[in-house]
Amino acid sequence: MTVSGVDLTGRVVLVTGAARGQGRAISERVVAAGGQVVAADVLGSVHELTGTGPGLLPHDAVHTVHLDVTDADSWARAVRAGLDRFGRLDGLVNNAGVLRRESLERETAADFEQVWRVNCLGPFLGLRAVVPHLRAAGAGAIVNTVSTAAATAWTLHGAYASSKWALRGLTKVAALELAPHGIRVNAVLPGPVLTPMVIGDGDPEAEKRLAATPLGRAGLPADIAELVVFLLSDSSAFIVGAEIAIDGGQTAGVVLTRPDRRVSSAG
Ligand SMILES: NC(=O)c1ccc[n+]([C@@H]2O[C@H](COP(=O)([O-])OP(=O)(O)OC[C@H]3O[C@@H](n4cnc5c(N)ncnc54)[C@H](O)[C@@H]3O)[C@@H](O)[C@H]2O)c1
Repeated sequence: MTVSGVDLTGRVVLVTGAARGQGRAISERVVAAGGQVVAADVLGSVHELTGTGPGLLPHDAVHTVHLDVTDADSWARAVRAGLDRFGRLDGLVNNAGVLRRESLERETAADFEQVWRVNCLGPFLGLRAVVPHLRAAGAGAIVNTVSTAAATAWTLHGAYASSKWALRGLTKVAALELAPHGIRVNAVLPGPVLTPMVIGDGDPEAEKRLAATPLGRAGLPADIAELVVFLLSDSSAFIVGAEIAIDGGQTAGVVLTRPDRRVSSAG
């Protein structure tokens, strides 16, 4: 069954960071659009995604695999497992990511590097592992999950923001290099989204803070999944190298709370 015109029937998509949050929602949405998912995560709980109970995804549409995106051999095993199971690959969602908040003065080189390894090296290794199969098929779609942290700058996010800015660059290069082979590469830039990444530390004020977008609410994983599935599908057939903010207006501009001059047509 497909939903709202976006059709992924017959398509197989590898989604990283699929155990929870946005990756889980994207996996659910791919299945709802008629596709099949190789659901990959470093967390063992990814294997609990499938089953017959409420909220679980059907075994015939989802194959769960262990994947550490920072490790090329791990990628090779995950891709092989997906091909063995479904016989093809049509798409990749580089969604896995980690967040660190630390001032530049206190940040360590090891922690900085680890954020970069997951958020930037990971998608690069994903491209390297998946693209040969998309090229052989002559078509494919790749979506990289960036962040509005790579639309401006945020204090205390030196490692995270710089890794996501780099991922924007990687997205553009990949889009240009792969478009001639029928492979479309695009990026989504989510604003605040209610997932364990940002509400997982038990801070009761977090949800309220995250709702401070012009729209007055934070995003839900399903909001992001809707856009990702669109970019994976033929509904976005002419979109290449795009960076789409999905953020309730967070990066649209500045909200003035006290206009300092009123203009009246009555003179
Ligand atoms: N939540 C937000 O407000 C927000 C905003 C903008 C962008 N993002 C980005 O969205 C993406 C999804 O994050 P989320 O919000 O769902 O957070 P999340 O923490 O709930 O999910 C991230 C997933 O990535 C997985 N992961 C981490 N390191 C990995 C590795 N080495 N190999 C494989 N999997 C790994 C985690 O296990 C987890 O399942 C991330 O790239 C994140 O940077 C999140």
